[in-house]
Amino acid sequence: MWQSVVSDLDEKLERAEPRCPYFGVCGGCALQNYSYESQLLIKVEGVRRVFERMELEASFEEPVRAAEEWFYRNRMDYVVAPGPKIGLRKLKSKYAVVDIERCLLQSEEADRVRNGFRDFLRTQGLLPYDLRRKRGLVRYLVVREGKNTGRRTVIVLAAKEEFSFDEFCRLGEELGCTGFALAVYEGPADISVGKVVRYAGEPLSERVGHFEFQLSPYSFFQTNSRMAERLVEVVRELAEGGDVLADLYCGVGLFGISLSDNFARVTGIEADPLAVEDARRNAELNGVDNFSVTEAKVEKLERLEATVGIVDPPRAGMHPKAVRLLKKSEIEKLIYVSCNPATMAHDLRSLEESYELREPIRLLDMFPWTPHVELVAGLVRK
Ligand SMILES: C[S@@+](CC[C@H](N)C(=O)[O-])C[C@H]1O[C@@H](n2cnc3c(N)ncnc32)[C@H](O)[C@@H]1O
Repeated sequence: MWQSVVSDLDEKLERAEPRCPYFGVCGGCALQNYSYESQLLIKVEGVRRVFERMELEASFEEPVRAAEEWFYRNRMDYVVAPGPKIGLRKLKSKYAVVDIERCLLQSEEADRVRNGFRDFLRTQGLLPYDLRRKRGLVRYLVVREGKNTGRRTVIVLAAKEEFSFDEFCRLGEELGCTGFALAVYEGPADISVGKVVRYAGEPLSERVGHFEFQLSPYSFFQTNSRMAERLVEVVRELAEGGDVLADLYCGVGLFGISLSDNFARVTGIEADPLAVEDARRNAELNGVDNFSVTEAKVEKLERLEATVGIVDPPRAGMHPKAVRLLKKSEIEKLIYVSCNPATMAHDLRSLEESYELREPIRLLDMFPWTPHVELVAGLVRK
């Protein structure tokens, strides 16, 4: 989609020299050959076209610019492949991997962890997983950082539990990590998530605004911590305050906890049991006593008792039953947060009978040099 936007906007776009030596080969950043301003143009136009295709009337605010253009990601999932290579998948390739020495998206410390781990595989004689042949042991290295807390958790995803975990922790400690996890995934898919079978060190944590959030190794968290603060502010501005807030798809409680002062009560709904535990612990850690969390799939709920709602579904968007639940609820004001314009537009269309957009949609550039953008829509009951 963004490729056609780029070719249509061609004359308006300002070219730039890519800073990353892997540009054009790596599947990571696709827009490094444009100036920052041009990237924003591409993103806004991309979103506008998605809404137009859906025949959805909407206007858009000027995007909130990224707080940092480089080293903004707090999480990277690096593929491990025969070589050993550790990096990202090559552009348009299912199997090939770009062996990365330096990535400009996360941090120099994360570079050291990734590069040190490559040497570790060699010295320990650990076999990288070969996705094509479905053989080998080590599949992914996930590095997660608390940009505002200095914590760093490194997760190794292996095909089996037999892995030199103690040596891995020692290496991680030398490389500045504070938490160490071993996860196992035996299946055939190319995924970076598995069942955590061992954990050592401190839990991962991140601070956003006045609140601190502890995270299980794989719990979802906004990948750009500095922009997460802006995102919370935008959501707060649209939600204002009131009686009961429903924070649907609440993860570890970012919105619910951050907005708890504005509401008499906040109820979070989250499907991942580990994120639910995190959210409950986070409420306690932050001395928030009006936030409670139910472990459930939103679409399985019978009813919602709230006056204001926040929905921040996964990229796939909302289940039709979740849309129906909202329509029949008492929610007057609904804030829809998404990093996927297509599913967001689809869901807004389905909600149209009951909710309307009264304000321009907000865009936040949480993912510089990629075509992605975060969207926030404020809806009110018709
Ligand atoms: C995009 S994340 C948003 C999390 C949180 N709002 C935040 O900003 O940190 C989506 C969350 O929805 C959860 N989730 C996915 N499908 C769900 C469902 N059907 N019902 C409830 N939660 C779900 C995921 O586990 C994840 O934590």
